Amino acid sequence: MNVLVLGSGGREHALCWALAASPLLTKLWCAPGNPGIAQVATCVPIGALQIPQLVAFAQENEIDLVIPGPEAPLVEGITDAMEVAGITCFGPTKAAARLEGSKSFTKEIADAAGIPTALWERFDNSAAACDFIERRGAPVVVKADGLAAGKGVVVAQTEAEAIDAVTAMMDEGVFGESGRAVVIEECLVGPEVSLFALCDGEDALLIGSAQDHKRVGDGDTGPNTGGMGAYSPVPDFPPALEQACVDQIVRPALAEMARRGTPFRGVLFAGLMLTEQGAKLIEFNVRFGDPECQVLMLRLKSDLLAAIQAACDHELKNFDLRWHDQAALAVVMAARGYPEAPERGTVIGGLDAAAAQPGVQIFHAGTAVGADGSIQAAGGRVLTVCGSGATLREAHDAAYAAIGKLVWPEGFCRRDIGKRAL
Ligand code: AMP
Ligand code: GLY
Repeated sequence: MNVLVLGSGGREHALCWALAASPLLTKLWCAPGNPGIAQVATCVPIGALQIPQLVAFAQENEIDLVIPGPEAPLVEGITDAMEVAGITCFGPTKAAARLEGSKSFTKEIADAAGIPTALWERFDNSAAACDFIERRGAPVVVKADGLAAGKGVVVAQTEAEAIDAVTAMMDEGVFGESGRAVVIEECLVGPEVSLFALCDGEDALLIGSAQDHKRVGDGDTGPNTGGMGAYSPVPDFPPALEQACVDQIVRPALAEMARRGTPFRGVLFAGLMLTEQGAKLIEFNVRFGDPECQVLMLRLKSDLLAAIQAACDHELKNFDLRWHDQAALAVVMAARGYPEAPERGTVIGGLDAAAAQPGVQIFHAGTAVGADGSIQAAGGRVLTVCGSGATLREAHDAAYAAIGKLVWPEGFCRRDIGKRAL
């Protein structure tokens, strides 16, 4: 098969790395890719949102399967455009990608499907939202209804904080149109986990779960980021509970989406909170997480391409997915200044020595090759340094030993990835 992956992050490097090992693969392309991806795939200088150019490229190069990494091309309709051109795309249609694009849509699906989730209400009038907050009291969660680059959620400990969030989103428009409507939710408490399933419209196959670390600083301090590290398996989330969540959260969502005439095919990412009353849905995303994907790919024993092909052929039911009996832990190396203003163009040394550490795999994200051939920082999250081992402790030690070999004073990472589980 000729396969085209879309995206340029650590997640896409991990996907390409796993796909490159498949005996079913003929040729692997990635648009636009990055210097790490270029080691396992042919990079094509087309952006992941340049839909007509991507369709033309896929036709000219006889691509059999397109695998989008990030949500943006899905929300923009890449799957629909590829299908019109007769090319299979493993991701939801634009209509099904609303599960990520709109918080209130997700909550409607959850309620219609009987999926456990926080009580909620949607407002498009700020006075009504503030009145509701005053009646309900704090703590309470205020969310911009649309996409807000992961920044549109305020977990308010006081009523004043919640009302400030409503004012900023609805009256001052800090998230533009995405915040003109808000969802206000009951505040849930408990550890959070990310669960991932391959979906074929009807069936769901668990591909794993992981613990993300969203805040930029040690001890979960500082602003939210795309994710600073991840590990899998999650001790709080044993296999029986994972499977129960697939049955009680993922499958009912698929049934409801199909009932509405917008079946969901692709990767469904359920963000869950493990409360004292059981697992509850926080959000759906319509793609793998980054850096969660990196640890899942390290643990996956089965052929990823065969599993995705089974999803595209509606044969997930018969697919027996296997994992390596080992733990994986990923630490994101970010450029100084991330998430606000990452410094670019600094040189990263020691990559070969770091990658040569036992049990280590390094995935590139925001890197570029400089004029002198050096690898340089070209984004916020720059590398994902991953360790694997028999235990989470071994995986942790491998990842941090590799980081110790990097020579990049302008880079930083969290020092406490996995600490809660160790
Ligand atoms: P979301 O963008 O919906 O994933 O929300 C971002 C983060 O806000 C989540 O990862 C949670 O940590 C937190 N959060 C969202 N909804 C709730 C809730 N109902 N109760 C407590 N925390 C929440
Ligand atoms: N790491 C969280 C995400 O990809 O959304």
